[in-house]
Amino acid sequence: MKTLKIGKIELKNPLVLAPMVDITNLPYRLVCRKAGAALAYTEMINVPAMIHTNPKTLQMMQTSKDDSPLGIQITGNNPHELEKVLPILKKYDLVDINAGCPSERITENESGSCLLNSPKKIVEMIKILRKNNITTTVKIRLGFKKNNVLEIAKMIEKAGADALTLHPRLATQGYDVPAQWEWIKKVKPSVKIPVIGCGDVLSPEQALEMLETTGCDGVMIARGAIGDPLIFKRALEYLKTGKKTEFSFKDNIAAFQDYLKLSKRCKFEDLAIIKHLGSKFIKGIPGAAKKRNELMQFKSLKEIEDFFREIKAKP
Ligand SMILES: Cc1cc2nc3c(=O)[nH]c(=O)nc-3n(C[C@H](O)[C@H](O)[C@H](O)COP(=O)(O)O)c2cc1C
Repeated sequence: MKTLKIGKIELKNPLVLAPMVDITNLPYRLVCRKAGAALAYTEMINVPAMIHTNPKTLQMMQTSKDDSPLGIQITGNNPHELEKVLPILKKYDLVDINAGCPSERITENESGSCLLNSPKKIVEMIKILRKNNITTTVKIRLGFKKNNVLEIAKMIEKAGADALTLHPRLATQGYDVPAQWEWIKKVKPSVKIPVIGCGDVLSPEQALEMLETTGCDGVMIARGAIGDPLIFKRALEYLKTGKKTEFSFKDNIAAFQDYLKLSKRCKFEDLAIIKHLGSKFIKGIPGAAKKRNELMQFKSLKEIEDFFREIKAKP
């Protein structure tokens, strides 16, 4: 099986949990790690918000000993602001610059995928981080409106980044077209740093297919891991043996129960996020819509725990 090395960080396998807003909080990262994810990222965190730390931002920045290696993903475009948060960033194993988010909330501040229109800003940010010995990755799309990925990838490498992740769609495409893996294949030989492929890996077979057909060094999984952290276990087994492993609905519910336990341990108390995530674990069961409505009414972690205990106990 391929291994992936980012700077000095050696990963035990090539499977990476993507940064995802309201999903990849500390307890969920821990559940995905237990299933086999070799590297995980925080959800994107705005650099200026780190300076005026509010409780929500602090929660997003939360980590623990068993949450390693961890990349903190940042959105921003201002080198001056980046300088101010270096002491915070140095506490993480690596920093990922978000140069791919297409959301207007981010691009109107000239951050996220908007940076693909001004790659010099990406270069400046990489240089500051690398000058401070911070392992740095950059997550990009093919371009904003126009595909300039080969130029961007080379600039990222030249600036000193340790790896790049490519989600091969234009920012303006959202998820409207399939991820164009052929561009991962084109970018890979154009740079020497590791290339992590991302986009439409929703099954173990697709993880292997991406590695084999594009030659990428790692595979990042996002939507495929929402409500299904065991995708990492299945994918790992498939990469190692070529055999398909199936887990039952109850195994998956057990993974969510573990998430609830870890949420308590981590003092992660955002019930709206916990319930939203929980609803993804009951998708597809008989009466799912009614169950989901029931779940959404709960006002305590205890009620959510009881609800999932009951679901799991049912024959
Ligand atoms: C709910 C959700 C939240 C996301 N949040 C982020 C984020 O914070 N930072 C980021 O770089 N990408 C974010 N993404 C994009 C994913 O990391 C990934 O690039 C994209 O979903 C394609 O991968 P997939 O096909 O495996 O889902 C998010 C995606 C989803 C579905």
